[in-house]
Amino acid sequence: MQKVRKAIIPAAGYGTRFLPATKAMPKEMIPIVDKPTIQFIVEEAIASGIEDILIITGKLKRPIEDHFDSNPELEENLRAKGKEELLELVEETTGLNLYFARQAYPLGLGHAVLQAKAFVGDGPFVIMLGDDIMADDVPLTKQLIEGYEKTHASNIAVMRVPHEETANYGIIELEAQAGEGLYNVRKFIEKPEPDEAPSDLAIIGRYLLTPEIFDILEHLEPGKGGEIQLTDAIDILNKTQRVFAKEFKGERYDVGDKFGFLKTTIQYGLKHPQVKDRLKQYILDLAKELKSGNVDNQMAPKAPAPEHDKSNQQLK
Ligand code: UTP
Repeated sequence: MQKVRKAIIPAAGYGTRFLPATKAMPKEMIPIVDKPTIQFIVEEAIASGIEDILIITGKLKRPIEDHFDSNPELEENLRAKGKEELLELVEETTGLNLYFARQAYPLGLGHAVLQAKAFVGDGPFVIMLGDDIMADDVPLTKQLIEGYEKTHASNIAVMRVPHEETANYGIIELEAQAGEGLYNVRKFIEKPEPDEAPSDLAIIGRYLLTPEIFDILEHLEPGKGGEIQLTDAIDILNKTQRVFAKEFKGERYDVGDKFGFLKTTIQYGLKHPQVKDRLKQYILDLAKELKSGNVDNQMAPKAPAPEHDKSNQQLK
């Protein structure tokens, strides 16, 4: 059995749910307190034993490449000023086995994955979505790798979601329980409406797949939304070899969604050594204000903002 050594991180999408921030900035670079989302994902890969990572980028995604590059001037400046801790932070993102490929047009997640065919070769590999942070005692990617070592087959992560949200996800139709939190799947369905969804188990941003997925992707027609859908390719793969669904019981943070981003920032802020105490106090004070119903008044602009500059005024 081949060892799982390679991961791909698709990060070429438009990020429309986070506009206007993503008009000129990759959503994968949006920081959670002080660390870009994609760095959390690279760290999960390394903690799971992955050795080589390919990031799929596209137009306006250069900051991702620069983030993982060295910055000799900045490093020299920090060294000269004796800012060793900051220097360490800057240096920890360099020297990794990272590779980049471009997806010229974001034609869908399946199409993004297809750009990794030559990189992957003939072994099993992992896909980690660039805007989903997963937190658990054992990293989710490692859980999938352990699943592969037991089943010798593809394992993809699923999680229960509220039934009314099924149209945002790929959803699985269960066939049978195959083990503790492990399922045989009858069908993988991309974004079904709630009245058509056969379960509440949604595909989340981690997949361990065998390389046969590429032959399928190469011939796949566009599916939902006119995009080449990875879920459709997985459904076809499951007809010739098992694709298990592994239920994730940890925390998932969808940073590509505005509310998801806010929740993630608060959760990680409450753990961050530099800000946790002040943030906790701020939240407690804010909760008191909210209870007393004062917050809206305090935060509203003192005078109505001029029409042309309303958004800026409200932020002050
Ligand atoms: P999403 O659908 O969440 O990303 O795809 P998106 O299209 O960028 O975002 P919205 O929905 O418009 O806000 C999941 C992941 O797949 C990548 C995205 O960058 C994201 O990390 N992706 C998606 C690609 O790399 N290429 C694509 O063609 C589509």
